[in-house]
Amino acid sequence: MKIGRLDLPNPFFMAPMAGVTDSIVRILARRYQCGMVTTEMVSSHVLAEIGAQACLGRMHYRPMEKPIAIQIFGSDAEVLSEAARRVEAAGADIVDINMGCSVDKINRSGGGAALCKRPAEVGRILERVVRSVNIPLTIKIRKGWNNSQITAPEILHVAQESGVAALAIHARTSEQAYGGKADWEFIRELKSRARIPLIGNGDITCAADAVRMLRETGCDAVMIGRASRGNPWIFRECQHLFQGGQPAPPPTLEERLRLILEHMELLLQKEGEGNPVVQMRKFVGWYVRGLPGSASFRESVFQISDMNVMVDVVTRYFHEAQAAPA
Ligand SMILES: Cc1cc2nc3c(=O)[nH]c(=O)nc-3n(C[C@H](O)[C@H](O)[C@H](O)COP(=O)(O)O)c2cc1C
Repeated sequence: MKIGRLDLPNPFFMAPMAGVTDSIVRILARRYQCGMVTTEMVSSHVLAEIGAQACLGRMHYRPMEKPIAIQIFGSDAEVLSEAARRVEAAGADIVDINMGCSVDKINRSGGGAALCKRPAEVGRILERVVRSVNIPLTIKIRKGWNNSQITAPEILHVAQESGVAALAIHARTSEQAYGGKADWEFIRELKSRARIPLIGNGDITCAADAVRMLRETGCDAVMIGRASRGNPWIFRECQHLFQGGQPAPPPTLEERLRLILEHMELLLQKEGEGNPVVQMRKFVGWYVRGLPGSASFRESVFQISDMNVMVDVVTRYFHEAQAAPA
């Protein structure tokens, strides 16, 4: 599929997740054939007023992550335009505006999902940002603020008129946050009105779901969020299934262990920002999801505060799992 002039290798994208989809996670997703990655959201104010240096933790990416979108949030047309110019200068393939975040702090400042309460203003903002850059502008929205304010169809309309290159829809309202079920039928209806590529999102739990969302809604691509945490293999599985092959075998225990150890190594190499052991605890929890004894193992991992101990404990867990009778 294409977004603007940009060719994407396949329609299985990783959804942006603050606190999760850092450069390491994106590298691993791309290795397993993820079609496109997006950074965690970056404040347009910080980026426009202080500069990319201040946002390096979130904006830094490696060439092997490409194609990559850098996501910004905010509500001021001028500030968003300046931030978009800086995203382009940083070499991103796409600039994406977050219009779906339901976090209070972001909404109180008028950004995220709160922006979509005012479609006409969104139109003015988008026109201005589109004019500021040569790379494609995309947006990520929700159905609307709540069930009495379903604005996605109007937002799609103003986005198309403004020259936005693609739109991703998380099929819940902001009020729902992550509750209830994502409304795939809504994605199908929105797609039937769309002249630009539509990316479906919400409640894809496995590769079969991803392919089903493509087929049932007719959307052009899908974004996988929570189900990709600790599971970059999901993108390889999507590709297999999509191309009509047998479902790809799940990763072996050996493959999982190798990837976790690599993730730890990359975290240790990453400069600054946070404590790598603390960060690794949550990832280990995700990587072992579904494996025997993973719940109590996860609890024990959360007590560890030394990376060498973490390596030993994780390696032992996997060796024991390998030795256990099937
Ligand atoms: C921990 C977490 C952080 C998120 N951060 C962002 C973000 O920075 N930008 C964004 O557009 N959406 C963000 N989202 C929303 C996801 O991109 C996605 O829309 C949502 O999780 C639904 O997809 P899923 O059911 O596949 O997880 C976040 C979601 C989670 C769970």
